[in-house]
Amino acid sequence: MHARQPMNITAFELWSQRHCQRVNRRLEQAVSAISDHTDGSPVLAEAIGYALLAGGKRIRPLLVYAAGQLCGAAPEQLDTAAAAVEMVHCYSLIHDDLPAMDNDELRRGKPTLHIAFDEATAILAGDALLTEAFALLANESHADVRMQLQGIAMLAQASGGRGMVAGQLLDMRMEGTQPHTQALEAMFALKTGALLHASAMLGVLAAGRGNNDPTHQHISQFGQAIGLCFQIQDDIIDVTSSTELLGKPQGSDAARGKPNYALTFGLDNARQRADGLYQTAMQAIRQYDHAADPLRQLGALISRRDH
Ligand code: IPE
Ligand code: IPE
Ligand code: MG
Ligand code: MG
Ligand code: MG
Repeated sequence: MHARQPMNITAFELWSQRHCQRVNRRLEQAVSAISDHTDGSPVLAEAIGYALLAGGKRIRPLLVYAAGQLCGAAPEQLDTAAAAVEMVHCYSLIHDDLPAMDNDELRRGKPTLHIAFDEATAILAGDALLTEAFALLANESHADVRMQLQGIAMLAQASGGRGMVAGQLLDMRMEGTQPHTQALEAMFALKTGALLHASAMLGVLAAGRGNNDPTHQHISQFGQAIGLCFQIQDDIIDVTSSTELLGKPQGSDAARGKPNYALTFGLDNARQRADGLYQTAMQAIRQYDHAADPLRQLGALISRRDH
């Protein structure tokens, strides 16, 4: 594609396919490496492969590539971070579906891991994915070790007790309640927003752009807005889409009394808020030329997706 031509939908689809292929290759390598070291328990690598390699929109890896590209990083500088965020995400899905959490039996159009294997294997496969993600990031030979460490610390914060894990706990505690907007959004920012934000920021750091670089700040604002938007849209499609399209059970939130933006405040309010956040995200990166098009298109996809 010519650098000065605006990206149309087809160009974005091609861009997405190319980058999905890149991260899928890196993920396959990661699974093979685990499989080489689990002679006594091949089931672990099998379970990890089952959860990681079939399906998934790869939105978080695409955010790594899109943000990294805007900052001038080459794709090969971004493959490891892209794979690592997808591994953390897949771990979170496996644990999210467990009977002790959302108790869902369908994910990415297939039985969830604890159904296809068993609960203990699902817990351990999740644990392995989370830890392996950090091993991947730490083992990469990075041009700028300071940025590498910053990225590792940031992903740890976004995933753990100050990020996604904290959000998942709040999500559980809000079951059956009618939370205020602020409380619900704060929970969303932790359980979902943090990892989307971290994905974009890993791309920024891989390109060597630290805290005091204006692009770092703009993409951070983009990531915060689009991360929150992502969960509101997830709640909307839980109400409006179909199980077939979603590849996970439609209506699961209503059935289980889960805190859901659209169920709590109504579909119109949820749509309005998702659109407002999309606009905020676009504003944050308005000054960039076509180099920001993949990020813009991803923002549009996140706010309008039906699965
Ligand atoms: C679903 O994420 C979990 C949430 C944080 C809402 P995705 O919609 O990105 O799931 P996959 O990776 O495409 O299956
Ligand atoms: C999940 O939110 C957030 C995670 C950290 C996995 P949901 O529980 O709404 O995700 P889905 O709808 O099961 O994918
Ligand atoms: Mg959940
Ligand atoms: Mg769930
Ligand atoms: Mg959901």
